[in-house]
Amino acid sequence: MNYYHLKNTGLHLSVVGLGAWPFSSGYDWSNIDAPDVASVLSAARESGINWIDTAPIYEESEKRLGAALKGRREQFVLATKCGLVKNGAWTDHDLHPATLQKQLENSLRALRTDVIDLYQIHYPDPTVALEDALAVLFRFREQGKIRAIGVCNITEQQLLALPAEVDSVQQEFSLIHAQKGKKLLDACQKKQIAFLGYGTLGGGILSGKYKQEPNFRRADARNYFYKCYRGESFDKLQPLLARVSQLAQQKRTSMAGLSVAWALSYPGVSSVLVGAKTTAQVLQNAQGAVVHLNEEEKAYLEGL
Ligand SMILES: NC(=O)c1ccc[n+]([C@@H]2O[C@H](COP(=O)([O-])OP(=O)(O)OC[C@H]3O[C@@H](n4cnc5c(N)ncnc54)[C@H](OP(=O)(O)O)[C@@H]3O)[C@@H](O)[C@H]2O)c1
Repeated sequence: MNYYHLKNTGLHLSVVGLGAWPFSSGYDWSNIDAPDVASVLSAARESGINWIDTAPIYEESEKRLGAALKGRREQFVLATKCGLVKNGAWTDHDLHPATLQKQLENSLRALRTDVIDLYQIHYPDPTVALEDALAVLFRFREQGKIRAIGVCNITEQQLLALPAEVDSVQQEFSLIHAQKGKKLLDACQKKQIAFLGYGTLGGGILSGKYKQEPNFRRADARNYFYKCYRGESFDKLQPLLARVSQLAQQKRTSMAGLSVAWALSYPGVSSVLVGAKTTAQVLQNAQGAVVHLNEEEKAYLEGL
């Protein structure tokens, strides 16, 4: 496993990080049983993965992580987020200072820690200027409650206007939308801000496990967030999955590992997040860090 140094922060992130959205309580991800978070964390460490990304909006995720991190908090770089608030069936974007303060205190409590290593704005809020929200986060950092600051899901224009003190940008980056993240990636490189990719497996589909359309509950994140599990979108993905499968066999790796390797092959990608519910998944995903892809293989995967 290689590690990326988040400049001026003293933090080193493994190039594959553990996504903790699937540790939610079951609403988002149709989990029938609670995942064995402690075992997944042990497998992560065993494979060299040293950072975990969660968010208060991921339901039970922070609480479950807090419990599983007992006695080994120092082994992990812990990232969480702020600015999304559940409001009945809706999710509000809320970056008002009082909300940020309350969410930070709740996250520290749930995660059973005194400091959050990387604190990220989950989504911009059209009613609050990004720089005003960031000013609140800079204050948290001065108070020693957080160590580094990130922003997720921003446009290229918003990125170009970011103050130099922002340490990372998190954005969807996977073979499913290969071209989508690239502009932002280039802009991050220019500004020398870390780029953290998420949804590396498109919610799992790039592992090749679904031979036919899965029947998730309507509220499952894979229906509303990744949008490639139904009807025409599912059919459209099949040629890509066939290419991933073919090259994975050739390179003697799994489709999940190859998808991780593809994301990591882009210059400027600092680390990619992959969610996992089992130890076997973590170990397989971490393998992606040691698979090398040449330009021809990357172009083949992207169907170019
Ligand atoms: N900033 C943001 O707005 C944002 C948005 C989305 C995600 N994220 C972060 O990025 C992380 C990663 O994205 P994600 O978790 O949404 O999706 P993902 O990493 O693309 O997919 C994760 C899911 O794929 C399945 N899976 C994982 N490894 C596998 C393997 N080797 N073989 C077969 N199936 C496998 C598991 O689900 P099953 O076992 O159920 O199939 C797992 O929960 C999140 O957990 C979160 O931390 C951030």
